[in-house]
Amino acid sequence: RSYSVSSAFDFNSALFPLSASGPGYTALGTPSTPTFDLGGQQSLERNKSLTFLNGLSLVIGLIIGSGIFSSPASVNSNAGSPGAALVIWAICGLLAWTGAASFAELGGAIPLNGGAQVYLSKIFGEWAGFLFTWCAVTVLKPGSAAIIAIIFGEYMVRAVIGAEALEVSPWINKGVAVLGLLGVTGINSVSTRLGTRSADIFMFLKFVGLLAITILGIVVAATGFAVNKQALSDTWRHTNWFEGTSISSSKWAVALYAGLWAYDGWDNTNYVVGEMINPGRDLPRTIHTSLPLVILAYLLANLSYIFVLPATVINASNTVAVAFGQVVLGRVGSLILALVVSGSCFGALNATTFTAGRLVYSAGKEGYIPSIFGTIGLSHGNQRVRLPRRSARAKRFTRWIADEQGFFYTPMYAMGLNFALTTIYIIIGDFTTLTTFYGVASYLFYFASVVGLIVLRVKEPELERPYKCWIVTPIIFCCVSLFLLSRAIFAKPLQALIVLAFIVAGVPLYWWRVGSRNSGRGRKGEGFDWKFWKRWGRR
Ligand code: ARG
Repeated sequence: RSYSVSSAFDFNSALFPLSASGPGYTALGTPSTPTFDLGGQQSLERNKSLTFLNGLSLVIGLIIGSGIFSSPASVNSNAGSPGAALVIWAICGLLAWTGAASFAELGGAIPLNGGAQVYLSKIFGEWAGFLFTWCAVTVLKPGSAAIIAIIFGEYMVRAVIGAEALEVSPWINKGVAVLGLLGVTGINSVSTRLGTRSADIFMFLKFVGLLAITILGIVVAATGFAVNKQALSDTWRHTNWFEGTSISSSKWAVALYAGLWAYDGWDNTNYVVGEMINPGRDLPRTIHTSLPLVILAYLLANLSYIFVLPATVINASNTVAVAFGQVVLGRVGSLILALVVSGSCFGALNATTFTAGRLVYSAGKEGYIPSIFGTIGLSHGNQRVRLPRRSARAKRFTRWIADEQGFFYTPMYAMGLNFALTTIYIIIGDFTTLTTFYGVASYLFYFASVVGLIVLRVKEPELERPYKCWIVTPIIFCCVSLFLLSRAIFAKPLQALIVLAFIVAGVPLYWWRVGSRNSGRGRKGEGFDWKFWKRWGRR
């Protein structure tokens, strides 16, 4: 019998690889009493529930968030011409694709929850994984979620009060942002299924939204029936679409960063590989389906912005989608588009919360942060119900969101921590600082992980890799991200230094949390089981 791959995380699950056996369960897989006392015997990785579709909606759900509706201004104005802007959107998409394909190989070779955390630990040593986790738990995940939440809040307020109500106090926006965050945290703390099912639903809604923009744009362009005839003729007069293209490499870098934000999130499924039913097959499939779809959708949406809106409007507005709605359908259109954008952000918030919870959870399991965050909340959906009488519909709903045995498993304490941190960023967050910090720090770790892929190929050529990407893919990714990183360092040395200082600040923490554990003075058996892992890795 081969070990189920996910069980490398802890010995308990290695000993009890079937999800419904072991203490706390009867032979039939039904829980014996006490249901709530499964403690360390239970882990998310044993309860595999994610399918190809779930993977797809986690990736697409996070990628399509705020960016495609708000980044075009900064892409277009820095690119200088519509043609160059489209080229940048394509380059960013391809870059994201190469990164994602590399991560698909890593995820297949090291099929555990935690994304870059486990890849860096396995390849460079635990310190590297720790530093990533430190940054991701404290800044990257909550910071990016805060950005998405703030944009959600702005558009929601705009959709409710009216599109031109720009003078609303930012505190109202932030309040709505926190409410939205509370909503997704609630959804994902109740049940894994509820989280993934909402991700599935939002994925379809987003595609419908982008498709609507595309179709409207094409219809408007084809019929010449634009409300704003000036805009159309403007575009068509552009016989040379590349007229005015900027030649400064720092402008291109800014445009690339803006575009990459819109494509970011392609590593989302990697955080939950350990919970996938068949990661070797489904992870690469997820990547090679979602990225081409997103690239196509983004290019079409941008084309339709260019057709409908005059360049001056695209360059100046960071609410391109609302301006688009205004031109095509008037006031109602702008309200609808505001609603679409806030829905899209809500879906992205849901997807990022789902995985952030898992990341914090595995940090807790490793002993990087207090172990309470590495425990899962468990409740039973069929028998242990608080409400004595439930309607048939409520029962059906419960079954719909519970797993096969009627359980809800979620890392709810981890979700709580993520909620608290994200709320702090929403309150104090300054948008530009957050995005710059996010771009530099996240690409640093993407870069390190993809370099790690190449190192792993050399170091362990025999390691089983269900999916192997073309070796040029990671090389391209490394070169372009190195260019981006160096641009950022030269353009904003101070901010780059802050990022670096923040990462280095994790080193003493590493000694505190991990050093004592590895030297045997810490709690035993709680963290990553290196002996088991090495034996498994060498098979
Ligand atoms: N692409 C997303 C958007 O356009 C942002 C993704 C943020 N990334 C993350 N890992 N949370 O809004």
